[in-house]
Amino acid sequence: MRALAELATEVLTTADGRAKTALSRAHAADWFAARSNGELPETGTATPPLRPARPEKPELLSPRDVPRRKPGTVEGRIAILHAVAHIELNAVDLHWDVIARFGHIPMPPGFYDDWVKAADEESKHFNLVSDCLEAMGSHYGALPAHAGMWRAAENTVDDLMGRLAVVPMVLEARGLDVTPSMIKIFQNAKDDRAVAALETIYGEEVSHVAYGSKWFHFLCGREDADPKEAFHRLVRHYFHGQLKPPFNEEKRAEAGIPPDFYWPLSEGLTP
Ligand SMILES: [Fe+2]
Ligand SMILES: [Fe+2]
Repeated sequence: MRALAELATEVLTTADGRAKTALSRAHAADWFAARSNGELPETGTATPPLRPARPEKPELLSPRDVPRRKPGTVEGRIAILHAVAHIELNAVDLHWDVIARFGHIPMPPGFYDDWVKAADEESKHFNLVSDCLEAMGSHYGALPAHAGMWRAAENTVDDLMGRLAVVPMVLEARGLDVTPSMIKIFQNAKDDRAVAALETIYGEEVSHVAYGSKWFHFLCGREDADPKEAFHRLVRHYFHGQLKPPFNEEKRAEAGIPPDFYWPLSEGLTP
């Protein structure tokens, strides 16, 4: 097996969504096959691109220029799933980017197990949501999508603790807040396929946030930093904007993020 950072870079430089997720899942399967044989493949270092390769479509627009559609219509539900597919594809790259970009920082094998598993699950999520879009007569790339989703990665390109604070512990945790209401929209529309896909995503995202929290605390321990203070400092530095309540306090707790981590970053906003 080639070094994991090299495999990660291969995923990052593959543009097509389905091709990217197929490669991602194949590399994850190889990693876990080796690990279950008691092996520890080389993790290595690589030079990943600053931005991952992306398909020609969707067109990427500033969030305020992406047209809004009513969730009560099929078009509205397609738009929601299209936005989710875009998030999932970015998430595939975000997890492999951690492996490729921070290979020079010595981490225990469990760190790589967690991010390979998360990347594999994001690949499954993209495929599930793309299947839903195709069943509805659409596809990923049919609508414009948000530009700027990679900004968090660029801002934290040389700071692993900052990356963990912003990506899993802020952005993916936000997913836990908003997914239940999304599931309701598809339950009301009796779209069982989309409900099943979103429930799979909801269940697995808790562990991605938990991986973030686990390794963030690990690094704080290694650097003798207070986790709560470090989290507040890094989020204020790298994440421009407040955290918005309502928060899914139960799932955030399950993922190892206590209320005093996020409430102080939402000051001035009421639930
Ligand atoms: Fe996901
Ligand atoms: Fe995730």
